[in-house]
Amino acid sequence: MLTGKRILLVIGGGIAAYKSLELIRRLAQRGAKVRAIVTKAGTEFVTPLSVASLSGDKVYQDLFSLTDEADMGHIQLSRDADLLVVAPATADLMAKMASGRADDLASTALLATDKPVLIAPAMNVRMWLHAATQRNLAQLKADGVTTIGPNDGDMACGEFGPGRMAEPAEILASVEAHFSRSQELKGLHALVTAGPTHEPIDPVRYIANRSSGKQGYAIAGALADLGATTTLVSGPTNLAAPRGVKFVKVETAHQMLAACESALPADVAVCAAAVADWRVDHAANQKIKKGAGGLPALNLVENPDILATLSSRASGRPRLVVGFAAETEKVIEHAKAKRAKKGCDWIVANDVSPETGVMGGDDNTVHIISASTTDTWPKLAKGEVAHRLAAKIAAHLKGARA
Ligand code: C5P
Repeated sequence: MLTGKRILLVIGGGIAAYKSLELIRRLAQRGAKVRAIVTKAGTEFVTPLSVASLSGDKVYQDLFSLTDEADMGHIQLSRDADLLVVAPATADLMAKMASGRADDLASTALLATDKPVLIAPAMNVRMWLHAATQRNLAQLKADGVTTIGPNDGDMACGEFGPGRMAEPAEILASVEAHFSRSQELKGLHALVTAGPTHEPIDPVRYIANRSSGKQGYAIAGALADLGATTTLVSGPTNLAAPRGVKFVKVETAHQMLAACESALPADVAVCAAAVADWRVDHAANQKIKKGAGGLPALNLVENPDILATLSSRASGRPRLVVGFAAETEKVIEHAKAKRAKKGCDWIVANDVSPETGVMGGDDNTVHIISASTTDTWPKLAKGEVAHRLAAKIAAHLKGARA
Protein backbone atom coordinates (compact mmCIF):
# COMPACT_ATOMS: atom_id res chain seq x y z
CA MET A 1 0.00 0.00 0.00
CA LEU A 2 1.00 3.61 -0.50
CA THR A 3 -1.16 5.06 2.25
CA GLY A 4 -0.25 8.66 2.96
CA LYS A 5 2.61 8.75 0.45
CA ARG A 6 2.69 12.10 -1.36
CA ILE A 7 3.46 11.86 -5.05
CA LEU A 8 4.04 14.79 -7.33
CA LEU A 9 3.28 13.60 -10.86
CA VAL A 10 4.68 15.65 -13.75
CA ILE A 11 2.78 14.97 -16.97
CA GLY A 12 4.78 15.89 -20.06
CA GLY A 13 3.51 16.48 -23.58
CA GLY A 14 3.36 13.09 -25.26
CA ILE A 15 0.64 10.82 -26.56
CA ALA A 16 1.38 8.51 -23.59
CA ALA A 17 -0.03 11.20 -21.28
CA TYR A 18 -3.42 9.47 -21.49
CA LYS A 19 -1.86 6.54 -19.58
CA SER A 20 -0.97 8.91 -16.74
CA LEU A 21 -4.68 9.28 -15.98
CA GLU A 22 -4.80 5.55 -15.33
CA LEU A 23 -1.61 5.89 -13.25
CA ILE A 24 -3.24 8.56 -11.04
CA ARG A 25 -6.27 6.29 -10.55
CA ARG A 26 -4.10 3.35 -9.51
CA LEU A 27 -1.90 5.42 -7.20
CA ALA A 28 -4.97 6.90 -5.51
CA GLN A 29 -6.49 3.42 -5.16
CA ARG A 30 -3.38 2.34 -3.27
CA GLY A 31 -3.80 5.25 -0.85
CA ALA A 32 -1.28 7.71 -2.32
CA LYS A 33 -1.98 11.42 -2.34
CA VAL A 34 -1.31 12.57 -5.90
CA ARG A 35 -0.70 16.14 -6.90
CA ALA A 36 -0.11 16.85 -10.59
CA ILE A 37 1.74 19.35 -12.72
CA VAL A 38 0.82 19.29 -16.39
CA THR A 39 3.23 20.96 -18.81
CA LYS A 40 1.89 23.28 -21.49
CA ALA A 41 2.46 20.56 -24.11
CA GLY A 42 0.88 18.03 -21.73
CA THR A 43 -2.40 19.94 -21.80
CA GLU A 44 -2.58 19.19 -25.55
CA PHE A 45 -2.98 15.49 -24.64
CA VAL A 46 -4.91 15.46 -21.35
CA THR A 47 -7.20 18.09 -19.93
CA PRO A 48 -6.39 19.55 -16.51
CA LEU A 49 -10.03 18.87 -15.62
CA SER A 50 -9.66 15.09 -16.06
CA VAL A 51 -6.37 15.14 -14.09
CA ALA A 52 -8.00 17.14 -11.28
CA SER A 53 -11.03 14.84 -11.20
CA LEU A 54 -8.85 11.77 -10.72
CA SER A 55 -6.32 13.29 -8.31
CA GLY A 56 -8.93 15.14 -6.28
CA ASP A 57 -6.63 18.15 -6.16
CA LYS A 58 -6.11 21.23 -8.27
CA VAL A 59 -3.72 20.87 -11.19
CA TYR A 60 -0.63 23.05 -11.27
CA GLN A 61 0.25 24.40 -14.69
CA ASP A 62 1.94 27.73 -14.86
CA LEU A 63 5.09 29.01 -13.17
CA PHE A 64 3.96 32.60 -13.51
CA SER A 65 0.39 32.15 -12.37
CA LEU A 66 -0.15 34.34 -9.35
CA THR A 67 -2.96 32.14 -8.05
CA ASP A 68 -0.84 28.98 -8.37
CA GLU A 69 2.09 30.62 -6.60
CA ALA A 70 -0.17 31.97 -3.86
CA ASP A 71 -1.73 28.52 -3.31
CA MET A 72 1.57 26.70 -3.26
CA GLY A 73 4.92 27.98 -4.59
CA HIS A 74 7.00 25.79 -6.89
CA ILE A 75 9.57 25.10 -4.15
CA GLN A 76 6.91 24.06 -1.68
CA LEU A 77 5.24 21.90 -4.33
CA SER A 78 8.37 19.82 -4.90
CA ARG A 79 9.34 19.70 -1.21
CA ASP A 80 5.87 18.62 -0.15
CA ALA A 81 6.20 15.28 -1.96
CA ASP A 82 7.86 12.01 -0.95
CA LEU A 83 8.55 11.10 -4.58
CA LEU A 84 8.40 12.90 -7.94
CA VAL A 85 7.23 10.84 -10.91
CA VAL A 86 7.63 12.17 -14.45
CA ALA A 87 5.28 10.33 -16.81
CA PRO A 88 5.52 10.71 -19.68
CA ALA A 89 9.10 12.01 -19.57
CA THR A 90 9.48 13.46 -23.06
CA ALA A 91 12.86 13.97 -24.76
CA ASP A 92 12.47 17.69 -24.07
CA LEU A 93 11.73 17.24 -20.36
CA MET A 94 14.69 14.86 -20.03
CA ALA A 95 16.96 17.40 -21.76
CA LYS A 96 15.78 20.15 -19.43
CA MET A 97 16.31 17.97 -16.37
CA ALA A 98 19.77 16.84 -17.52
CA SER A 99 20.93 20.39 -18.13
CA GLY A 100 19.20 21.95 -15.11
CA ARG A 101 16.92 24.28 -17.06
CA ALA A 102 13.99 25.80 -15.25
CA ASP A 103 11.77 27.70 -17.67
CA ASP A 104 8.35 26.40 -16.69
CA LEU A 105 6.67 25.05 -13.57
CA ALA A 106 7.50 21.37 -14.27
CA SER A 107 11.22 21.90 -14.89
CA THR A 108 11.47 24.39 -12.02
CA ALA A 109 9.85 21.99 -9.56
CA LEU A 110 12.17 19.22 -10.77
CA LEU A 111 15.21 21.44 -10.27
CA ALA A 112 14.05 22.69 -6.88
CA THR A 113 13.41 19.27 -5.40
CA ASP A 114 15.49 17.42 -2.85
CA LYS A 115 13.32 14.30 -3.17
CA PRO A 116 13.85 11.13 -5.24
CA VAL A 117 12.74 11.30 -8.87
CA LEU A 118 11.41 8.47 -11.05
CA ILE A 119 10.98 9.05 -14.79
CA ALA A 120 9.02 7.03 -17.34
CA PRO A 121 10.44 8.10 -20.72
CA ALA A 122 8.16 8.05 -23.76
CA MET A 123 9.08 9.21 -27.23
CA ASN A 124 9.65 8.19 -30.84
CA VAL A 125 12.22 5.41 -31.19
CA ARG A 126 14.69 7.60 -33.13
CA MET A 127 14.46 10.32 -30.51
CA TRP A 128 15.07 7.73 -27.78
CA LEU A 129 18.06 6.23 -29.56
CA HIS A 130 19.56 9.62 -30.48
CA ALA A 131 22.97 10.22 -28.89
CA ALA A 132 21.68 13.40 -27.23
CA THR A 133 18.85 11.58 -25.43
CA GLN A 134 21.16 8.75 -24.40
CA ARG A 135 23.63 11.34 -23.09
CA ASN A 136 20.84 13.01 -21.11
CA LEU A 137 19.74 9.62 -19.78
CA ALA A 138 23.29 8.83 -18.59
CA GLN A 139 23.45 12.25 -16.91
CA LEU A 140 20.11 11.74 -15.19
CA LYS A 141 21.19 8.31 -13.94
CA ALA A 142 24.43 9.79 -12.63
CA ASP A 143 22.31 12.43 -10.85
CA GLY A 144 20.47 9.62 -9.05
CA VAL A 145 17.25 9.68 -11.11
CA THR A 146 15.55 6.28 -11.46
CA THR A 147 14.09 5.28 -14.82
CA ILE A 148 11.38 2.83 -15.75
CA GLY A 149 11.09 1.80 -19.40
CA PRO A 150 10.67 2.71 -22.14
CA ASN A 151 9.31 -0.56 -23.51
CA ASP A 152 9.65 -1.97 -27.02
CA GLY A 153 6.53 -1.95 -29.14
CA ASP A 154 4.41 -0.38 -31.86
CA MET A 155 4.37 3.34 -31.49
CA ALA A 156 1.63 5.86 -32.13
CA CYS A 157 3.80 7.30 -34.93
CA GLY A 158 3.75 3.94 -36.76
CA GLU A 159 7.32 2.88 -35.95
CA PHE A 160 8.46 -0.04 -33.81
CA GLY A 161 11.12 -0.13 -31.10
CA PRO A 162 11.99 1.21 -27.67
CA GLY A 163 10.10 4.37 -26.80
CA ARG A 164 6.71 3.29 -25.49
CA MET A 165 6.07 4.51 -21.98
CA ALA A 166 5.98 1.77 -19.35
CA GLU A 167 2.44 0.66 -18.50
CA PRO A 168 0.72 2.26 -15.48
CA ALA A 169 0.91 -1.09 -13.63
CA GLU A 170 4.70 -1.20 -14.16
CA ILE A 171 5.15 2.39 -12.99
CA LEU A 172 2.98 1.65 -9.96
CA ALA A 173 5.13 -1.42 -9.15
CA SER A 174 8.25 0.76 -9.42
CA VAL A 175 6.73 3.35 -7.06
CA GLU A 176 5.82 0.63 -4.57
CA ALA A 177 9.29 -0.92 -4.83
CA HIS A 178 10.77 2.51 -4.14
CA PHE A 179 8.83 2.89 -0.91
CA SER A 180 9.43 -0.64 0.35
CA ARG A 181 13.13 -0.41 -0.52
CA SER A 182 13.55 2.92 1.14
CA GLN A 183 12.95 1.41 4.56
CA GLU A 184 15.68 -1.25 4.39
CA LEU A 185 18.46 0.73 6.05
CA LYS A 186 16.26 2.83 8.30
CA GLY A 187 17.79 3.30 11.74
CA LEU A 188 21.30 2.49 10.53
CA HIS A 189 24.26 4.83 10.06
CA ALA A 190 26.42 4.64 6.95
CA LEU A 191 29.78 6.38 6.66
CA VAL A 192 31.24 6.94 3.18
CA THR A 193 34.55 8.49 2.14
CA ALA A 194 34.96 9.88 -1.37
CA GLY A 195 37.11 12.00 -3.64
CA PRO A 196 40.83 12.65 -3.52
CA THR A 197 42.73 14.26 -0.69
CA HIS A 198 44.95 17.32 -1.15
CA GLU A 199 48.21 17.29 0.76
CA PRO A 200 49.76 20.76 1.01
CA ILE A 201 53.31 21.53 -0.05
CA ASP A 202 52.92 25.19 0.86
CA PRO A 203 49.88 27.50 1.12
CA VAL A 204 49.32 27.44 -2.67
CA ARG A 205 50.62 24.07 -3.85
CA TYR A 206 49.47 20.57 -3.05
CA ILE A 207 49.77 16.90 -4.03
CA ALA A 208 46.53 15.48 -5.46
CA ASN A 209 45.18 12.69 -7.65
CA ARG A 210 42.61 12.29 -10.43
CA SER A 211 39.73 10.86 -8.38
CA SER A 212 36.44 12.59 -9.31
CA GLY A 213 34.48 11.32 -6.30
CA LYS A 214 31.58 10.23 -8.57
CA GLN A 215 31.42 6.63 -7.37
CA GLY A 216 31.61 7.49 -3.66
CA TYR A 217 28.99 10.25 -3.95
CA ALA A 218 26.68 7.89 -5.81
CA ILE A 219 27.12 5.28 -3.06
CA ALA A 220 26.35 7.80 -0.32
CA GLY A 221 23.21 8.85 -2.23
CA ALA A 222 22.12 5.23 -2.74
CA LEU A 223 22.58 4.38 0.95
CA ALA A 224 20.56 7.47 1.93
CA ASP A 225 17.88 6.43 -0.58
CA LEU A 226 17.54 3.17 1.35
CA GLY A 227 16.86 5.13 4.52
CA ALA A 228 20.33 5.05 6.13
CA THR A 229 21.47 8.12 8.02
CA THR A 230 24.47 8.78 5.84
CA THR A 231 27.62 10.79 6.46
CA LEU A 232 29.74 11.54 3.40
CA VAL A 233 33.28 12.64 4.22
CA SER A 234 34.68 14.05 1.02
CA GLY A 235 37.96 15.41 -0.19
CA PRO A 236 37.88 18.33 -2.68
CA THR A 237 35.61 17.62 -5.69
CA ASN A 238 33.39 19.56 -8.08
CA LEU A 239 30.31 17.56 -7.11
CA ALA A 240 27.25 18.69 -5.21
CA ALA A 241 26.40 16.75 -2.04
CA PRO A 242 23.83 14.04 -2.72
CA ARG A 243 20.32 14.58 -1.48
CA GLY A 244 19.66 13.72 2.18
CA VAL A 245 23.31 13.15 3.14
CA LYS A 246 25.30 14.76 5.97
CA PHE A 247 28.22 16.27 4.07
CA VAL A 248 31.62 16.83 5.69
CA LYS A 249 34.21 18.46 3.46
CA VAL A 250 37.88 17.90 4.20
CA GLU A 251 41.17 18.42 2.43
CA THR A 252 43.83 16.15 3.81
CA ALA A 253 44.03 12.47 4.78
CA HIS A 254 44.47 13.47 8.43
CA GLN A 255 41.33 15.59 8.35
CA MET A 256 39.47 12.75 6.60
CA LEU A 257 40.45 10.26 9.30
CA ALA A 258 39.47 12.68 12.08
CA ALA A 259 36.10 13.36 10.40
CA CYS A 260 35.47 9.61 10.02
CA GLU A 261 36.32 8.90 13.64
CA SER A 262 34.08 11.65 14.91
CA ALA A 263 31.24 10.32 12.71
CA LEU A 264 31.39 6.91 14.46
CA PRO A 265 29.57 4.80 15.52
CA ALA A 266 28.51 3.53 12.10
CA ASP A 267 26.94 0.26 11.03
CA VAL A 268 28.72 0.30 7.68
CA ALA A 269 31.73 2.18 6.36
CA VAL A 270 32.44 2.41 2.64
CA CYS A 271 35.89 3.82 1.92
CA ALA A 272 35.75 4.96 -1.68
CA ALA A 273 38.15 7.90 -1.30
CA ALA A 274 41.44 7.94 -3.16
CA VAL A 275 43.45 8.99 -0.13
CA ALA A 276 46.95 10.29 -0.88
CA ASP A 277 49.48 7.74 0.29
CA TRP A 278 51.99 10.39 1.31
CA ARG A 279 52.03 13.93 2.58
CA VAL A 280 54.81 16.45 2.77
CA ASP A 281 56.42 16.43 6.18
CA HIS A 282 56.15 20.00 7.55
CA ALA A 283 54.47 21.84 4.66
CA ALA A 284 55.94 25.35 4.31
CA ASN A 285 54.01 28.17 6.01
CA GLN A 286 54.83 30.60 3.21
CA LYS A 287 54.88 30.06 -0.55
CA ILE A 288 58.19 28.46 -1.50
CA LYS A 289 60.10 30.90 -3.72
CA LYS A 290 61.44 29.74 -7.07
CA GLY A 291 65.20 29.75 -7.35
CA ALA A 292 65.85 30.33 -3.66
CA GLY A 293 68.52 27.82 -2.71
CA GLY A 294 68.03 25.44 -5.70
CA LEU A 295 65.19 22.95 -6.13
CA PRO A 296 63.09 22.31 -3.03
CA ALA A 297 63.29 18.76 -1.67
CA LEU A 298 59.94 17.29 -0.64
CA ASN A 299 60.32 15.05 2.35
CA LEU A 300 57.34 12.67 2.14
CA VAL A 301 55.90 10.76 5.06
CA GLU A 302 53.18 8.12 5.05
CA ASN A 303 49.53 9.09 5.57
CA PRO A 304 47.24 7.16 7.89
CA ASP A 305 45.29 4.39 6.17
CA ILE A 306 41.66 5.21 6.95
CA LEU A 307 40.28 1.89 5.72
CA ALA A 308 42.80 -0.15 7.73
CA THR A 309 42.28 2.05 10.81
CA LEU A 310 38.49 1.63 10.72
CA SER A 311 38.82 -2.10 10.02
CA SER A 312 41.12 -2.73 12.96
CA ARG A 313 39.26 -0.77 15.65
CA ALA A 314 39.10 -2.86 18.80
CA SER A 315 35.84 -1.23 19.84
CA GLY A 316 33.28 0.55 17.71
CA ARG A 317 34.31 -1.16 14.47
CA PRO A 318 31.52 -0.77 11.89
CA ARG A 319 29.81 -4.13 11.40
CA LEU A 320 30.66 -4.03 7.71
CA VAL A 321 33.72 -2.28 6.29
CA VAL A 322 33.98 -2.00 2.51
CA GLY A 323 37.13 -0.88 0.71
CA PHE A 324 37.94 -0.20 -2.92
CA ALA A 325 40.82 -1.49 -4.98
CA ALA A 326 41.73 0.40 -8.13
CA GLU A 327 44.04 -1.91 -10.07
CA THR A 328 45.59 -1.90 -13.50
CA GLU A 329 46.54 -5.61 -13.72
CA LYS A 330 45.70 -8.94 -12.02
CA VAL A 331 42.69 -7.09 -10.62
CA ILE A 332 41.09 -9.89 -8.59
CA GLU A 333 44.36 -11.35 -7.28
CA HIS A 334 45.64 -7.96 -6.12
CA ALA A 335 42.28 -7.01 -4.64
CA LYS A 336 42.06 -10.23 -2.62
CA ALA A 337 45.50 -9.53 -1.17
CA LYS A 338 44.43 -5.96 -0.37
CA ARG A 339 41.29 -7.15 1.44
CA ALA A 340 43.36 -9.39 3.69
CA LYS A 341 46.01 -6.73 4.29
CA LYS A 342 43.55 -3.96 5.18
CA GLY A 343 41.32 -6.22 7.29
CA CYS A 344 38.09 -5.01 5.68
CA ASP A 345 35.13 -7.29 4.98
CA TRP A 346 34.56 -6.59 1.29
CA ILE A 347 36.66 -5.06 -1.44
CA VAL A 348 35.10 -3.51 -4.53
CA ALA A 349 37.74 -4.08 -7.19
CA ASN A 350 37.90 -2.29 -10.50
CA ASP A 351 40.26 -2.03 -13.44
CA VAL A 352 41.34 1.59 -13.79
CA SER A 353 43.76 1.17 -16.72
CA PRO A 354 43.52 4.33 -18.86
CA GLU A 355 41.79 2.40 -21.69
CA THR A 356 38.82 1.52 -19.39
CA GLY A 357 37.94 5.21 -18.88
CA VAL A 358 36.80 4.43 -15.31
CA MET A 359 38.74 7.27 -13.63
CA GLY A 360 36.49 10.30 -14.02
CA GLY A 361 34.14 8.41 -16.38
CA ASP A 362 30.50 7.46 -15.83
CA ASP A 363 30.70 3.65 -16.04
CA ASN A 364 32.40 1.03 -13.95
CA THR A 365 32.96 -2.74 -14.07
CA VAL A 366 33.46 -4.10 -10.58
CA HIS A 367 34.06 -7.32 -8.67
CA ILE A 368 32.78 -7.54 -5.08
CA ILE A 369 35.22 -9.68 -3.11
CA SER A 370 34.48 -11.07 0.35
CA ALA A 371 36.44 -13.66 2.35
CA SER A 372 34.69 -16.47 0.50
CA THR A 373 33.08 -15.07 -2.67
CA THR A 374 33.88 -13.04 -5.78
CA ASP A 375 30.87 -11.48 -7.46
CA THR A 376 31.53 -9.94 -10.91
CA TRP A 377 29.00 -7.39 -12.16
CA PRO A 378 28.60 -6.31 -15.80
CA LYS A 379 29.69 -2.84 -16.97
CA LEU A 380 27.23 -0.44 -15.30
CA ALA A 381 26.72 3.29 -14.81
CA LYS A 382 28.36 4.37 -11.53
CA GLY A 383 24.88 5.25 -10.21
CA GLU A 384 23.74 1.69 -10.89
CA VAL A 385 26.87 0.22 -9.24
CA ALA A 386 26.00 2.36 -6.22
CA HIS A 387 22.38 1.14 -6.07
CA ARG A 388 23.42 -2.49 -6.38
CA LEU A 389 26.10 -2.10 -3.74
CA ALA A 390 23.67 -0.36 -1.37
CA ALA A 391 21.15 -3.18 -1.91
CA LYS A 392 23.85 -5.78 -1.20
CA ILE A 393 24.89 -3.92 1.96
CA ALA A 394 21.23 -3.76 3.06
CA ALA A 395 20.76 -7.50 2.47
CA HIS A 396 23.94 -8.25 4.44
CA LEU A 397 23.08 -6.02 7.39
CA LYS A 398 19.52 -7.30 7.48
CA GLY A 399 20.82 -10.87 7.54
CA ALA A 400 23.20 -9.96 10.35
CA ARG A 401 20.40 -8.16 12.25
CA ALA A 402 17.92 -11.08 11.93
O1 C5P B 1 46.14 0.91 -0.65
P1 C5P B 1 45.17 1.44 -1.63
O2 C5P B 1 45.15 2.93 -1.74
O3 C5P B 1 45.21 0.79 -2.96
O4 C5P B 1 43.75 0.99 -1.01
C1 C5P B 1 42.55 1.46 -1.49
C2 C5P B 1 41.51 1.40 -0.42
O5 C5P B 1 42.03 1.87 0.82
C3 C5P B 1 40.35 2.32 -0.71
O6 C5P B 1 39.19 1.77 -0.11
C4 C5P B 1 40.76 3.63 -0.04
O7 C5P B 1 39.64 4.42 0.28
C5 C5P B 1 41.44 3.10 1.19
N1 C5P B 1 42.51 3.95 1.70
C6 C5P B 1 42.33 4.66 2.88
N2 C5P B 1 43.35 5.43 3.38
C7 C5P B 1 44.55 5.48 2.76
C8 C5P B 1 44.75 4.77 1.56
C9 C5P B 1 43.72 4.04 1.07
O8 C5P B 1 41.23 4.61 3.44
N3 C5P B 1 45.51 6.22 3.27
